[in-house]
Amino acid sequence: AATSKINFFNISKFLVIIMKCIVLVILATVLLISCSKGSADENIFHNKEIDDITIGLKNYAIEKGKFIGNLMRDGMFDNLQVHNGSTDNILKTDYNAIVLGNKMKMSNLLRTRPQDPFNVKIEDINTDIIDKFVNYADKHNMRKRGHVMIWYKQIPSWLTNEAPNWSAQQVYDFSKSYILALSAYCKGKIDEWDVLNEGIVNNSFRQGTWYDIINTQANINGDIGYYNYFAYLFKWARQGDSDVELFYNDYNIEAFGTSKNNFMRTFVKKLKLDYSAPIDGVGLQSHFKINLTTDDFISRLGKTIDDLGESDFIANITELDIRICNGDIQTLDDQKKAYKNIVSTAFSRDNCKTILIWGPSDNDSWINSHFEGCGQATPHDENFNKKPAYFGIKEALMDL
Ligand code: XIL
Repeated sequence: AATSKINFFNISKFLVIIMKCIVLVILATVLLISCSKGSADENIFHNKEIDDITIGLKNYAIEKGKFIGNLMRDGMFDNLQVHNGSTDNILKTDYNAIVLGNKMKMSNLLRTRPQDPFNVKIEDINTDIIDKFVNYADKHNMRKRGHVMIWYKQIPSWLTNEAPNWSAQQVYDFSKSYILALSAYCKGKIDEWDVLNEGIVNNSFRQGTWYDIINTQANINGDIGYYNYFAYLFKWARQGDSDVELFYNDYNIEAFGTSKNNFMRTFVKKLKLDYSAPIDGVGLQSHFKINLTTDDFISRLGKTIDDLGESDFIANITELDIRICNGDIQTLDDQKKAYKNIVSTAFSRDNCKTILIWGPSDNDSWINSHFEGCGQATPHDENFNKKPAYFGIKEALMDL
C-alpha cells in the first residue's frame, strides 16, 4: 500500500508537470502568433510610410489611365534644384504630365525679332527652351503640354510695337510661319498644344489689335473674320504635326450655361464643323475661388465636359488652382473637398484624360502675386508639405 501511495503521488506530480507544460506551450504559441502578427502590422505600417514617400499621385492616375500634371515655374526652369530640390521632388514623385508656366509663351520663344517676321524660321525660335523642357519631361516619363502658340498676352515687345501697323495678310503670314516653324520643331516631342488661348470675353471674341485687323480687312484669298483666322491656326498646327493634340484653352468657361461657356461651346463646334478646323479639345483652365466651388458649380463643370464629349471633343482641366482669399470662411478641409469633387467629376468622364494643376506648391503659385489677398491655391503648402487638398486628389484618384 505504501508503494502504491508513493506511485500515486509520483503519477499525480507527473500529470501536473505535463499540464504545466501544455499550458506553457499554448501560451508560447499565442505569444508567438501575436508577436508575428505585430511584426506583420509593423511591416504594413512601414510600407505605408514608404508609399507616401515614393508612391505619388501619378501612380494612382496611371492605374486609371489618366494624367495628373503640374507646371514648371520659371525659377525651377532656370535652376532645376531650386528650393533644395523640393519642387523637383514634388514634380517627379506626383505628376506624369507637365507644362511650362511661362517659358514657352511667345515672349520667350520669339524674344528677338526675326529677320523677316512674315517668314519666321526655326532658327528664329529659342529652341533651347523646348529642348530643356522635353529633356526633363522625358527623363521622368511625363506627358508634355505646349503652352501656348497664339495668345494676346506675354508677346514680345517688338511685336507689340509693330503689329498695330500690319495688314491682315501680314498677320496671316506671321501666324502661319510661326506656327509651322514651332510645330515642325516640336513634332514628336510635344504631345498637346494650346493653339489658341483666351480668345473669348463673355459672349463675344476678345477685342484688340488683331481683332480689328482681321475683322475689317481680308487677306489675299478673301478670308475675313476671326472664324477663318482661328480655323487656319489649327490647320497650320496640324500641318506641322499630324499626331499632336490641338486645344482651345480659356478660363471662366467651366460651368455649363454661363454666357462665356455658351459662346465657347458654340465657337469650338462651329470652328470644327463649319470651318473644318482640326481642333481636338478644349482646355478648361479652372482657376477657381474656393467659395464658388459649390456642388452645383462642379456638376455644371461635369455637364460641360459631357456636352463637349457629345461633339467628340476632349475636355481637359489645364490650370487648376483653388484660391482662398481674405474674408472667405472656407477652410483647407473645404478646399480638400473641392479638389476631390473636381478630380472625380472630371475624371469620371472618358473624354477628360488630363488634369494639370497650376503650381506644384503654394510657394510656386501665381495666385499670391496676381490676386490680392488670395493664396493657398495648390495641393502643397509654402513649405512644400502636403495639404488636405493633396489627399483629396489622392482619394479621388483611388476611388475612380
Ligand atoms: C500666368 C503665369 O502663371 C504667371 O507666372 C504669369 O505672370 C502670368 O501668366 N492663364 C494662362 C496662363 O493661360 O498662361 C497664365 O499663367 C494664367 C492664366
